[in-house]
Amino acid sequence: MNNNILHTTIPLKLINLLADGKFHSIEQFNMLLGVNNACIKKYIKIVRNWGVDIFTMPGKGYRLYAPLQLLDENIIRKLLPEGRLTVLPVIDSTNQYLIEHIGSIQTGDACVAEYQAQGRGRRGRQWISPFGNNLYLSLYWRFEKGLESSGGISLMVGIVMAEVLKRFGAEKVQVKWPNDLYLNNRKLAGILVEIFGKVDNTTHIVIGAGINLAMRESTVGKIDQEWINLKESGVTIDRNVLAAELTSTLRQAFLQFERNGFSPFFSRWQALDNFLNRPVKLLVAEQEIKGIARGIDAQGALILEQEGKLHAYFDGNISLRNQ
Ligand code: BTN
Repeated sequence: MNNNILHTTIPLKLINLLADGKFHSIEQFNMLLGVNNACIKKYIKIVRNWGVDIFTMPGKGYRLYAPLQLLDENIIRKLLPEGRLTVLPVIDSTNQYLIEHIGSIQTGDACVAEYQAQGRGRRGRQWISPFGNNLYLSLYWRFEKGLESSGGISLMVGIVMAEVLKRFGAEKVQVKWPNDLYLNNRKLAGILVEIFGKVDNTTHIVIGAGINLAMRESTVGKIDQEWINLKESGVTIDRNVLAAELTSTLRQAFLQFERNGFSPFFSRWQALDNFLNRPVKLLVAEQEIKGIARGIDAQGALILEQEGKLHAYFDGNISLRNQ
């Protein structure tokens, strides 16, 4: 058996069996997977390393702490009016996957993963991506005529994602400049935009979104910022339905952005802004800038009021501060 089968295919079959949340005996695994007890234990270890929480009880076997609803490419494709989407059960990073395939993919192509071994966040950070409980989605867009300003793209993606989640009933979801989704003042989702220019004036854009849906603290360890699952707002969304809805809404938004730039989205930011009119600090490089957040300008820059004057900032990380 080659390495891929040993290290991915059989562990994935194991997860498929366990996904119902019921107990499964080691004998059942032996029979269905055709491997011995020692191997089963090795595969259980691999699956645990992917962040799947497996519980074991002597005499009964193994089960998950909670059933998993797995991604299904056929279901997602049926829900999408057009265009391509690939389900990658295990991958280093969905953004990286699209970047590596830029030569062969089309505008609007998307992929989702169950687990990312090297999920990446902004500013070189890691995006912890346990198997099966969240959504990791990337989408590729090619601007043939070049792109005058890419500034609004990450904000546009955040607006569209927040609006989609609200449509599913998560009314309290908000945006944080420039490209996070927030819920109850904690991070619900992050967006990473990667842009590559070409001499022929074509711009290749890969956007990646990670949404915390029902991630278990025990599987992820410490994350260096306050985070929240969508589940905590009392909303559970079918992951296949969510993947399809986000993909098709983002495709429409990119088409609109191509035609009209950021302006159709600009006015929608205000209603979603988690920090509007609140005292914040903005960290740019090593510098800390204090002010009152007054939304964004038409280019997507953050507006801060400082000593009665408005200033626009294009980069940095904001957080709330005490008065
Ligand atoms: C951030 O807030 O730092 C951005 C996080 C972006 C994470 C997503 S998950 C899907 C896509 N693939 C990646 O490797 N990263 C993005």
